[in-house]
Amino acid sequence: MTIGVCYFPEHWPRERWATDAAQMAAAGIDVVRLAEFSWAVLEPERGAFDFEWLDEAVATLAEAGLDVVLCTPTATPPKWLVDERPEIRQADPDGTPRAFGSRRHYCFNSPAYREETRRVVSRMADHYADQPSVVGWQTDNEFGVHETIRCYCDDCADAFSAWLRDRYDSVDHLNEAWGTTFWSQRYPSFEAVDPPRPTPAEHHPSLRLEYARFASESAVDYNRLHVELLREANDEWFVAHNFMGDFEPLDAHAVSDDLDLVTWDSYPTGFVQDRRRGTPTMDELRAGDPDQVGLNHDLYRGTNDAPFWVMEQQPGDVNWPPTCPQPGEGAMRLWAHHAVAHGAASVLYFRWRRCRQGQEQYHAGLRKQDGSPDRGYTDAARAAAELADLSEDDLSHVDAPVALLHDYDDWWALSAQPHAPSFSYWDHLRTYYRALRERGVQVDVVHPETALDGYDAVVAPSLHLADEEVADDLTAFVEGGGELLVGARSGVKDPYNQLHATLAPGPLASLTGLRVDQHESFPERVERAVTFADRTDERTLSWRVWGEWLDLAAAVPLATHSDDLAEGKPAVARNDVGAGTVVYCGVWPGADLAATLVDRVLARAGVATTRRLPAGVRVNRRGDLTWVTNFSSQSHRVSGGEAVVGRRTLGAFDACAVRTPLGELEVEVEADGDERA
Ligand code: GAL
Repeated sequence: MTIGVCYFPEHWPRERWATDAAQMAAAGIDVVRLAEFSWAVLEPERGAFDFEWLDEAVATLAEAGLDVVLCTPTATPPKWLVDERPEIRQADPDGTPRAFGSRRHYCFNSPAYREETRRVVSRMADHYADQPSVVGWQTDNEFGVHETIRCYCDDCADAFSAWLRDRYDSVDHLNEAWGTTFWSQRYPSFEAVDPPRPTPAEHHPSLRLEYARFASESAVDYNRLHVELLREANDEWFVAHNFMGDFEPLDAHAVSDDLDLVTWDSYPTGFVQDRRRGTPTMDELRAGDPDQVGLNHDLYRGTNDAPFWVMEQQPGDVNWPPTCPQPGEGAMRLWAHHAVAHGAASVLYFRWRRCRQGQEQYHAGLRKQDGSPDRGYTDAARAAAELADLSEDDLSHVDAPVALLHDYDDWWALSAQPHAPSFSYWDHLRTYYRALRERGVQVDVVHPETALDGYDAVVAPSLHLADEEVADDLTAFVEGGGELLVGARSGVKDPYNQLHATLAPGPLASLTGLRVDQHESFPERVERAVTFADRTDERTLSWRVWGEWLDLAAAVPLATHSDDLAEGKPAVARNDVGAGTVVYCGVWPGADLAATLVDRVLARAGVATTRRLPAGVRVNRRGDLTWVTNFSSQSHRVSGGEAVVGRRTLGAFDACAVRTPLGELEVEVEADGDERA
């Protein structure tokens, strides 16, 4: 387990570097990421490479015992290059080139930029190939930040036509598969298919889905170029990329197939403001939403089924969300423990020191701009000291009993036609994730094609494009005794984003034992209800945004709509198949309905759980330890076992780890002693 930091020696006088390195080592930091935006200093003019400063920085860090992760500097092509070859720039949907002046202004499909990338990456990789303290590389930086996965330049238009030609036997096949007779959209050739540029109404959903695939694959291919060059120089290096949180346009599964290590960048108090429905609570503004962050941890751990890194961990207040509260006292330590509890092998804080120049002057570092320690430094040092003593067994790989199925194609197809302003694929998926995490259950977020035999239960919130193969795998899983929960809008469309000829859930109809008779959507403020009933229970529970009326064949109802037009029609149904059961939920469930369904599935699957955890408190099992993380300002007591990390009395924004197994653990809210989980 390592703690690290992202460092920009090029922003500071050289005389300071040794002090910085010593202060890093004193905080227990052992790995430092460098150089992701340094092209203009590494190559101030074409061909005139200057590695001397970076050599010295790497050597200074090595002397203090610090390992280095280097980055390919391609996220920021320098001005001389942009002026010399302006064709490397991305274009907005209306064709306006994205100007120099910030970052990520290059196009993945530009032949000129690929040539420049080859040049700079191989020069850098060759230069550091024999430097022992350089342990690995990050490719570029955050592919896609600032909406840069989808580009609309002429190079992309040409590459898109070529991509379509590879994918379809003929243009007639494309016309047929997409259904371009609609609104007279038939294409005479692949060259005639343009990127979805501005047009009066929305673009054809098949074009939108294919463009989303094409753009993501363009980034995958561009990343592969970096990976190959780095491996050629030294095949002992690990190669990583730093993904983003809650990020739709890039298929992280596909990029990760080429990587040794998956990493991502976690900014909890920003994420609750700019990429989640609902108004954040004060506690969330101070520490974030543990399930929003946790879902990303589990996605990136599941991507390569391996420990992941948090390559950038929020160090304090940041500059880019709508507002920038100070994180709660201890939050920077809490986030490191939360990441480790979810399976992280390393957490690096972004950045070492608040920068005096440029766009991120309002972004904290572990040290202030005058060099003195900031709040994050104390937290990072404490986390590093606590984590240093843990054994390999304590930190073994997370063994999750539940798989949550997620496919970027489903996300893209539903984003092309959400059919309600607030239907967000990811928020809907998170509703189920939250219900699982409220019970302390460990979750792998995996692609539907993943082998499911190791799991006790599978939750599939929206298998929108599910095909026969996925249906067969899920049927085998349930027949063999697995418990499956399938959510709304599953089995609706084919791979080209056309409705199936049969009613939803299409390929999943026989497994679920039902058909969707009607669907409807509502503004988010409208609350609807179902009556849930099984042998022991009858309750009215709410749902919002999306509702279906189900026609049952083999399935039996679990919940029926309670109001007006839909009254009495099934909304949730159960089907017993072989030794297992599948539950289909045709509405976007409120928290209580989601919890009721998830609890039922977990109980039938025999998965060990806690009682429903208090808001902000989450429990994780990893190796021999159970971690309790408290994202709330309320104190809690953890009973049972000895604390190996922290203390069992959890203050605000605090964390501990105990040896108690999950099922035996109790978490009590201190202020109201009777509220137990
Ligand atoms: C990340 C990015 C960093 C820095 C940081 C600020 O998205 O990778 O370079 O901009 O945000 O929070």
